[in-house]
Amino acid sequence: MNIGIIGSGTMGSGIAQVAATAGCNVKLFDTNQAALDKAKASLEKILARLIEKGRIDSEEKQRIQNNITYVSQLKDLSDSDLTIEAIVENLDIKKSVFSELETYVSEDCIIASNTSSLSIASIAASLKKPERCIGIHFFNPAPLMRLVEVIPAIQTSKAVLETAVKTISDWKKTVAIAKDTPGFIVNRVARPFYGEALRIYEEGIADFASIDAAMKKLGGFKMGPFELMDFIGNDVNYTVTETVFTAFYFDPRYKPSLTQKRFAEAGYLGRKSGKGFYDYDSNGKAVIP
Ligand code: NAI
Repeated sequence: MNIGIIGSGTMGSGIAQVAATAGCNVKLFDTNQAALDKAKASLEKILARLIEKGRIDSEEKQRIQNNITYVSQLKDLSDSDLTIEAIVENLDIKKSVFSELETYVSEDCIIASNTSSLSIASIAASLKKPERCIGIHFFNPAPLMRLVEVIPAIQTSKAVLETAVKTISDWKKTVAIAKDTPGFIVNRVARPFYGEALRIYEEGIADFASIDAAMKKLGGFKMGPFELMDFIGNDVNYTVTETVFTAFYFDPRYKPSLTQKRFAEAGYLGRKSGKGFYDYDSNGKAVIP
C-alpha cells in the first residue's frame, strides 16, 4: 500500500515509522527541509536503539528505512492509496493543503487527518469528494501508543471507514471509532486533566514538579500533566484546548490557561524546543529539579 504523510514533525514522522514497519511504501512530505532532515536523523536513532535492545536486527532497520522516501513537493504524493495529514492544527491551512492534494491524487485515494480537535466535517468540505475524508488520530509517540481513534465525518462513506479501520488494524493498532465531536474521546477526557493541573499551579497551591510527582507517585500516571504537556508541545496542547473550548460554546470545563498561552508565545514549547515547564538536555531528557 502506498502511504503519503503530510508533515514530518512529531506525529508525521512517528506515523511514517508505523506504516513503514508494517511494510507500506511511505512518502513523507514537509515544506520545511530541516523538518525532513530531523525526521530522517531521528528515525536512524530510534531504530539503532531498537537494535541495541534486541527488538529488531539491522536487516529490519534497513527494510524500514528503505520503505520511507522523504519528499518536498505535495504532488510527490500523487500515487498514494491513503494520505494522512499531520501539519499545524489550523483549519484554514489544513483545508488549503487538502484541496491542493486532491488535484494530485487518484479518485480512490483516502484523505485522512490526524487532527486532535478540529471538525472532520469541515476539513472534508474542502474536498470535491468529501466522502473520501476521515479522521485517523494517532497518539504520541505513534510507534508506541496502541490506540488510534478513527473518526468518520457525516460525509465519509462506509467503504472509506472500513478501509481505514482495516488498514490501521493491519498496522497492529487498536481502533476506537469516535463520532466527529471536538476532542473526540481521549482529548476531551484529557482537557480537564491538563486544565486543573494548570489551575493548581496558577493558584500557587503547588509547583509543577510537585504536581507531576504527586500524580505519578499517588495517581499511578506514567507522566505528570506538565511532563505530558511538554512532551506533546505547549503550542499544540494549547491550540487543542482552545479549539475544544470554542467548539463547545465556551464551556468553562475546557477553559484554556493563560500560563500555557504565554509559554507557547515565548517558544517554550517543551521537549521539541529544549525548554518548556522543564529544561531538556541534548538527548531530549527532562532536567527534573
Ligand atoms: P509538529 O509541529 O511537530 O509538526 C508539524 C509539521 O508540519 C512541521 O514539520 C511543519 O514543517 C509541517 N508543516 C506545517 N505546515 C505545512 C504544510 N502546509 N505542508 C507541509 N508540512 C507542513 O506538530 P505535531 O505535534 O506533529 O502535530 C501535527 C498534527 O497532529 C496536529 O494536527 C496535532 O493536533 C496532531 N496531533 C498531535 C499530537 C501531539 O502529541 N503532538 C498527538 C496527536 C495528534
